[in-house]
Amino acid sequence: MSKLQNMRLDKLLANLGYGSRREIAMLAQTGRFLLDGARIARVDERIALSDDLPTRLTYLGEELDPLPGCVVMMHKPLGVTCSHKEAGERVYALLPDRWQRRDPPFSTVGRLDKETSGLLLLTDDGAFLHNVISPKRNIAKKYRATLDRPLRGDEVALFAAGTMMLEGEKTPLLPAVLEVASEREAVLTITEGRYHQVRRMFAAVGNHVVSLHREAIGGLVLPDHLEPGEFMVMDEAEKAIIFG
Ligand code: URA
Repeated sequence: MSKLQNMRLDKLLANLGYGSRREIAMLAQTGRFLLDGARIARVDERIALSDDLPTRLTYLGEELDPLPGCVVMMHKPLGVTCSHKEAGERVYALLPDRWQRRDPPFSTVGRLDKETSGLLLLTDDGAFLHNVISPKRNIAKKYRATLDRPLRGDEVALFAAGTMMLEGEKTPLLPAVLEVASEREAVLTITEGRYHQVRRMFAAVGNHVVSLHREAIGGLVLPDHLEPGEFMVMDEAEKAIIFG
């Protein structure tokens, strides 16, 4: 259930990107929105943000968009960016148009580089975002890296030591777990989210990451059925898996 208990109908719908409050009033008047199958007489009334609201409140016969407090799991494709500063298509453009007009807007939960693919979470829920990225929580992030050169053999111990320093940083990295898959492929689990961390860790041991893919965040593994560019809204049970 969403944390917001109830809200003015026109504000809710405007915040979900359906239009301005004036437009919402007109759309309601003409029967575009229906509540429990009936035309909405007053859009200035408050409505409980119950879990079943999206099925009860329809727009052009379709279920309402996810209520505020939404978490989206995306399979980020290569070549799209999480940052507003970087040039190129943004991950937000992969969401439906209306979702891009929401207030509060979706933010990515941490970032993946433009040339990193895999599991990316987006949310409008500030508390959720904080819980996932907070250093206090130590949520593990698992990356599969393909490397330019064969592994040397000392990387597992170096990454696990908790003493490794990245260039330009003042504190050592927390211990990380490296599982070697083959000469040039490894799965690295880190609990921090420093800038370009995985690429810089391999650079620090004289290697170069050729491809990088995030497979998991906490207990949540990117499902095989989610193709690059696809996304799904997570329910409470799925969200809990992250912290489990
Ligand atoms: N580390 C990186 O170097 N890049 C990412 O996208 C994520 C972690």
